[in-house]
Amino acid sequence: MAYLDDSAWRYFWHPVCTLPELAAAAADNRVLAVTLLGEPIAVAEIAGTVAAFPDRCIHRSTRLSIGCVEAGGLRCAYHGWLYDAGGRCVEIPAMPDYKIPPGFRLRKIETQVAYDLVWLRLDPEAGTEIPGCPAWGDEAFRCVAGEPYTWPTSAGRRLENFVDLSHFPFVHDGSLGDRRHTTVPIAETARVGGELRFRFEPEPDMDLPDVALMAPTDYRLWMPFTVNLEFFFPDGERGQLWMTASPVESGTCRSFWFTCRTAGRDGDDRPHLDFQDLVLGEDLPVIAAQDPPEIPGPAGEQSVPADAVSLAYRRWLRELSGAAQKGAAEVSRSLAAGKRPRQRRSGAAGDA
Ligand code: FES
Ligand SMILES: [Fe+2]
Repeated sequence: MAYLDDSAWRYFWHPVCTLPELAAAAADNRVLAVTLLGEPIAVAEIAGTVAAFPDRCIHRSTRLSIGCVEAGGLRCAYHGWLYDAGGRCVEIPAMPDYKIPPGFRLRKIETQVAYDLVWLRLDPEAGTEIPGCPAWGDEAFRCVAGEPYTWPTSAGRRLENFVDLSHFPFVHDGSLGDRRHTTVPIAETARVGGELRFRFEPEPDMDLPDVALMAPTDYRLWMPFTVNLEFFFPDGERGQLWMTASPVESGTCRSFWFTCRTAGRDGDDRPHLDFQDLVLGEDLPVIAAQDPPEIPGPAGEQSVPADAVSLAYRRWLRELSGAAQKGAAEVSRSLAAGKRPRQRRSGAAGDA
């Protein structure tokens, strides 16, 4: 059994596409093919609602995503069976008078739209909620959506990289870090509801670009794969960087993200997006080179107290993974527990 059981993440909401991606498909009656936790899924806008189904026709199992959307529903490409927005088969062209049995239906997957993203939840039993995105809808901020990106790593590794405090001077020397300042404060993490929270105080006298998001930062990590960073700049302005890593399949995740700012809200977005592209381009080589792409157990990697955030995150992932094997109620309990993980200021830190 792997250290983390990916089937645990079926209890959580994950985004699978952006609204503009769905709108582009709807404009030419296309069905979107996405993958979540290894499951191929067809997503379509049918009669004004967003619908998602396992990407497999119940007749002869061809992928629904190669079919098309019509006014009345989603039509399979093979024999033309038509499914309505609820997944019910409403037309079988080979037999127009056939009384279609009620069991001829697709399994409908729960969908929600939030932050201009389409979110799916494969299993509703744990009653989880869509993670927060504090700047969204806050008029003090301008939020700009970055281009989603797919990386050859697990969602856990992607998220862990986002909350890693000791890689800045090496991976991001000159953009987010400074090779002259390599030590990091050991963050004290706290569990609040389903979030892991901590604050980071970077070295104040680094020579970084104006668009660099580097200032005292409040981190909020919604378990398992969403994070928001809020930056407090000396002039009173604030910035936020939000990212969620959607677990596509083993060793692959797709990140959706926003960069948000209070300063220069009417200004050019491009430098802010370009800066994030620079940072992502710095991270990708090291993340893609991690072997294995999944987070291993404590025996698989050595850790030090500077990895306190990573260790607290792994510990909670592991708890959720174990809870999921006992059932949805245990997952809810682990999310709500709100207990503080142990803090270490010295000594070994290999316990994850
Ligand atoms: S396989 Fe879909 S209609 Fe036959
Ligand atoms: Fe990084």
